[in-house]
Order: sequence, then C-alpha cells, then structure tokens
Amino acid sequence: MTSKSTVLQNLPADLDRDRLPKHVAVIMDGNGRWAKRQGLPRIMGHRRGVYALKDLLRCCKDWGIPALTAYAFSTENWKRPLEEVDFLMTLFEGVLRQELREMVQENVRINFMGNLADLPRSLQVEIERSMAETQHNASIQFTVATNYGGRQEILQACRAIATQVQEGVLQPDEIDEALFSRHLYTAKVGDPDLLIRTSGEMRLSNFLLWQLAYAELYITETLWPDFDRAEFHRALCAYQQRDRRFGKV
Ligand code: FPP
Repeated sequence: MTSKSTVLQNLPADLDRDRLPKHVAVIMDGNGRWAKRQGLPRIMGHRRGVYALKDLLRCCKDWGIPALTAYAFSTENWKRPLEEVDFLMTLFEGVLRQELREMVQENVRINFMGNLADLPRSLQVEIERSMAETQHNASIQFTVATNYGGRQEILQACRAIATQVQEGVLQPDEIDEALFSRHLYTAKVGDPDLLIRTSGEMRLSNFLLWQLAYAELYITETLWPDFDRAEFHRALCAYQQRDRRFGKV
C-alpha cells in the first residue's frame, strides 16, 4: 500500500484532503491547569503534554499535513520558577534522546528554532544530533520553537538586513516581504495556515508575529494534555469552513 493511499484511508471522510492546511502551528497552553485539576504538580502537565504533541505529530503525518510547528518554550518562560525551567529543559533533552530513533524511522525531519545558544549545553547537543540525523527525512517537517520570541526574531532579521545594506550588498528598496521572510527561522517551511491555541487564551504570546499575518486562528478551551485527534479533527473542520481571502473580496 502506498503512503498516499494510507493518507486517504486515515483521513476522516468529512475533511477535504485538497484543502488541508500545509502548515499547522500550535501554542500548547494549559499544562499547569490540567495538572492542578488532577491534583498533580505542574510538571506532570508538561509530561502529559509531550504525549499530546507526539499524537498530533503522528496525526499530521497520517493525514498528509507536511509541516507542524510547536511553541515549547518562549523567551519569557525563563521567568518561571527555576525548578520548572530546569524540569522543562531536562524533559526536552530526555524526549529527544528517547524519541529520535522513532522519528528517524517515521521519516520525520526535526528542526528547532529560537535562540538555541542560551539553552543548556547538553540540550544543544541533543538538538544538533536530532537535526543532523533527520535532515534528509521528508514525511513531515516538525519544528520546535524553544527559547523563541517573535519580536526577537524580527529584530535579528532587521540587524542581518541592515548589515547587508551597510556593506553595500543590498539596496534599501530591494527589501521586500520575500527578502524579509528569508531572514526568519521559517525561511524554508513558510508561514502557517492554521494556528491552534489551547486553554482558551486569546493571545499570540510573541509567537510567529510576522508569519501569522494571514493564518486562521482556532482557539479551544481544551487544555493541552487533553488535545487529541478528535479535537484536531474539529480544528480542521473549522479551518475548512473558513473563507480565506488574504485581503481580497
Ligand atoms: C504551557 O502551559 C506549556 C509550556 C510552557 C510547555 C510546553 C511543553 C511541552 C508540552 C513539552 C514539549 C516537548 C518537546 C520535546 C517539544 P502552561 O504551563 O503555561 O499552562 P498553564 O497556563 O495552565 O499554567
């Protein structure tokens, strides 16, 4: 059976495979609240959140969605209690170490975006390894935003472009949207078509500020650890009912 027919078999019948988003972004919010409701420490919510993310990645792959970007840690998240930050860093590292073999087998290409140089060295090593070992994979592009901030990303693009102008290799009137986009972390994967945010908050929280300009937003009250295939199916149904006009009539 070819992978194409597998996609056709698994995709729910009420979804139009020709109008699926090509790139889904997700703000995984509500781990702490989920844990509190279960009477568990906050960190257990993050641990459960990993299962939800793994399931969403597999679902995107099964249903033929070629790119998924997840917001795992923002530049503002350093302000959380030290124990929680330490737990998250250790969790990311452990997950990468445990899941890499499966990612390779499932043909997932992993990418990380953000200020990675400020992450613990041992996590950087796992990040570099996972990116190198999956760089030729092609079933899905999975990007994890870690120590990521949208404003910082825009500023570093501005600095790089300004340097080129200063060096005389670029004229100011050559700066257009396409050139600017090439200086962002998402240069290869492009802009998301759909942004999902869990736990009901109506904010972008400094995530992909440039890239989300024309994305469809789907906000659900469901807390991230409870976000499952049925929820994702609902998000895709809502997306397919939207009339994407990109400013046209
Ligand atoms: C927000 O919930 C969630 C985070 C800051 C962490 C998200 C990380 C994961 C789900 C793990 C992903 C793992 C890998 C390897 C990418 P919150 O703590 O802000 O929840 P609250 O708003 O209820 O307090």
